[in-house]
Amino acid sequence: MSFKTTKEVIEDGDVVILYLNPSNMHPLEIKAKICNKKGKIIDNVFHTVYGGLKVISLIGQKYGSKVELTRGWAYVLQPTPELWTLMLPHRTQIIYSPDISLIIHLMELGPGSTVVETGTGSGSLSHSLIRAIRPSGHLYTFDFHEQRVSIASTEFENHGLNNFVTLKKRDVCSEGFGEELKHKIDAVFLDLPHPWLAVEHATVVLKQKGGKLCFFSPCIEQVQRTCTKLIHKGFIELHTYECLQREMNVQYKSLPILDLECLKYKQVNEDIVQKDGKGKQEEKLLTVTHAHSLPGHTGFITIAVLPPSYARK
Ligand SMILES: C[S@@+](CC[C@H](N)C(=O)[O-])C[C@H]1O[C@@H](n2cnc3c(N)ncnc32)[C@H](O)[C@@H]1O
Repeated sequence: MSFKTTKEVIEDGDVVILYLNPSNMHPLEIKAKICNKKGKIIDNVFHTVYGGLKVISLIGQKYGSKVELTRGWAYVLQPTPELWTLMLPHRTQIIYSPDISLIIHLMELGPGSTVVETGTGSGSLSHSLIRAIRPSGHLYTFDFHEQRVSIASTEFENHGLNNFVTLKKRDVCSEGFGEELKHKIDAVFLDLPHPWLAVEHATVVLKQKGGKLCFFSPCIEQVQRTCTKLIHKGFIELHTYECLQREMNVQYKSLPILDLECLKYKQVNEDIVQKDGKGKQEEKLLTVTHAHSLPGHTGFITIAVLPPSYARK
């Protein structure tokens, strides 16, 4: 399965990304036949704005190669958690890559870490958590919404990630995370409307030599209420962040040279002066501009540490 390992060539059963442009990407499962809306088994042909693609024809093609559609072309890419976050079917609000990277960094996750996540939601964060902790770590993820649990479970299976994740349907605020996880978890992550209701349950599963609790909340009132609970339960080193992405383009641009002859002071460097199509002089300058408009506030990320039990209040 292509989510699990880096591969060179597309095989039957892989999930690949069909990339038409940055805002038009589709996940495709490589299989010869699919079931249509009427329940009939038909050839798996994927239709895009640039025409159709017989999906099975991708077997044997190299990842990253350009493939022909009936009225154009596209690239076939290996899936990554970042690409999946951009194209997954939304069942809920999701966490995006800039916040995800900070969350993984703050929780100090790496291969071998054991993590609890709730709620699973659309599985956007889960895919990145799994990549960070595999091959020897494990993700325990919980959601109380039956359909979301069922869809996420199918996705984990189709993406070949089942060995690294345990998904359970549970209301964690009332039932906690389960006795079997008692003091086994390195980090707990909460993305819930009422994170403060899960704090006490988190203290039960976090390792006694000090574990980390991180939560994501869109509103500062949720942050205040949860921090109050965290302090009350003995957590220390609380820090809250807002992660705003700002991508810049550094590129050469042709800019018109103003005719300031009347001022008689401008020295024009002949090497960098060119003529545009209409014979006007223009100068190539290195410019730095915002890449494109990016999302603003998504949420606040708070990290807290549960100190070893002897140091707790
Ligand atoms: C915003 S979504 C999580 C999105 C997820 N982080 C992602 O990146 O795709 C919040 C999820 O929490 C679940 N949830 C809310 N309260 C819960 C509770 N008490 N126990 C378990 N799940 C809960 C909801 O069903 C929902 O799917």
